[in-house]
Formats: sequence, C-alpha cells, structure tokens
Amino acid sequence: MTEVNEVPEGASRGGDGAGAEPLLKLRGIDKHFGPVQALYGVNLDLPAGQVTGLCGDNGAGKSVLTRTIAGAHQPDGGQIYFEGRPVHIRSTRDASALGIETVYQDLALADNLDIVQNMFLGRELLSYGLLDEDSMELQAADTLSTLRVTTVRSIRQPVASLSGGQRQSVAVAKAVMWNSKLVLLDEPTAALGVVQTRQVLDLIKRLRDRGLAVMVISHNLNDVFEVADRIAVLYLGRMVAEGPTADFDRQSVVEYMTTGTASGRPYESAGAASGQG
Ligand SMILES: Nc1ncnc2c1ncn2[C@@H]1O[C@H](COP(=O)(O)OP(=O)(O)O)[C@@H](O)[C@H]1O
Ligand SMILES: [Mg+2]
Repeated sequence: MTEVNEVPEGASRGGDGAGAEPLLKLRGIDKHFGPVQALYGVNLDLPAGQVTGLCGDNGAGKSVLTRTIAGAHQPDGGQIYFEGRPVHIRSTRDASALGIETVYQDLALADNLDIVQNMFLGRELLSYGLLDEDSMELQAADTLSTLRVTTVRSIRQPVASLSGGQRQSVAVAKAVMWNSKLVLLDEPTAALGVVQTRQVLDLIKRLRDRGLAVMVISHNLNDVFEVADRIAVLYLGRMVAEGPTADFDRQSVVEYMTTGTASGRPYESAGAASGQG
C-alpha cells in the first residue's frame, strides 16, 4: 500500500507553520471565463499537517480556486508553487502526479460499482494483463481501516447501498489512497446529516494528523471552526483574509464573507507585521 503519512521535507507538521515553506502556495492567481473574472490575484498557503477552511459566499470563487489547484482549470496569471518549486498543473493527471486529490461536492462515485471498483476506477491494478482483484481488495480494505472507516459492512457492496456519510468516506479514502499529500474537499458535508457529518469531520482530522495538507470548503461555520487550523476567505474572487483560526470568530468570518472587511477594516494577520511572501 502506498504511504499516506509522508511529510514532505521542509514542510511543517502541525504548529502554526510560521517560517516553514507551505506544501502548496498560490501567488497572484487570476482566472476569468469570458467577461467573468472569477479570481483576482489570489494568494493562498496550504501547509502540510494543517486543515485550511476556505470560506466565501455563493459565487465567491471557491470551486474555481479548487479546480485550478486540481488541474481542471488553467489560471490566466500568477504562479503555483508545490514543495517550494514553481509548477504548472495542466490536468487532473498532473495534480495526481504531485499528490493532489480532490473530493467534489457531487460525489464522483459510480453507484452500480462496488467500493473496491470505485476506489480503483481508472487506475485498476493488473497482474499478467488481468485485473488483480485480490491486491485491489487488500489495498482498499487497508486504506479504509487506516482511516478507521469501519461502518461499511463489505467492500464488495455496491456504492448505491451506502449512506451519504459512508459514500463520502469512500470518496475521501479513494482520494488519499494514491500517496496524496494534499486533499481538497469541496463542500464534503453539504448533503449529510449530523451523524454523517461527524464521520467526515473526524476523517478530515485524521488526514491532518497523518501530515497531509487539507483544504476544506464548507458553508457551515461550526464545521469550519471545528476542523480548521487556518481560515481563508474569498470575497467576489479576491482573498480578503487568510490566517490562523485564532485570528477569527464566527462574526468576523461572516463579515469578511459578506463585505470583504471586518468592522470596516481589511484583514491584517497578527503575525504579518514583517510582511512575508
Ligand atoms: N465554467 C465556468 N464558466 C463560466 N463562469 C464560471 C464557470 N465556473 C464558475 N464560473 C463563475 O465564476 C464565479 C465563481 O464561481 P464558483 O467558484 O463556482 O463559486 P463558489 O464560491 O460558489 O464555489 C461565479 O460567478 C461563476 O458563475
Ligand atoms: Mg462551489
């Protein structure tokens, strides 16, 4: 089984990450669709071993930003750095090769296939030209148990028979099975009930504890404040606030989301006095 707990050299594990190179760094990312400017000069740091909560109202650009990191959109300007090196992520395949995996809001699982088939869809293991079912089953079971996804009865049951929380857990497990270093989750709990949301939030914390960088988008500020070590707020395509969760409370996040400022003032990180990056 591939390692899921690898921490890139020079990346921080936990802590506030001050001074350490973030796993992924965006600088000045622009993106437009025809006349619609979706992102304006966006800066963002995603450190290893930390969960970053990306907040913003509908249409703020959260999904476009996620898809840009995931290689589904090409930025028009700016630079992405991965492990300190400038990179061009031209496709989701490029993103996967770097260790970037995405779990989208509309669960990209095939209902008629079972859990193992879904986790290996498009990346099936072969042995002498035939599907290596035994290895795939072992690796899928291993990943699920590592992540303590224990409520699934059989990894050979069709995904259609799973609850929403179980489906989302399988989607997350699928994303981290491939030696991932960064997992992007776009509204992973949007369609879930209380208990299922709990499962997914716990899973996100486990990814973080394994040293992965995690970016999670959620409309639910309770979820954000529960799992996020850092918070970033997009407002009309601009990053208006980004810093440790301790810099924020629910009211200020809502203000940044709805006006781009808090108490009428732009965000200034408590630790940004020396003017970094
Ligand atoms: N493929 C696309 N073509 C044209 N406009 C798009 C496309 N994707 C997103 N947009 C526009 O970009 C803006 C940001 O959208 P999005 O990132 O989906 O917002 P959200 O923060 O709700 O996820 C919106 O104005 C949206 O209409
Ligand atoms: Mg969205």
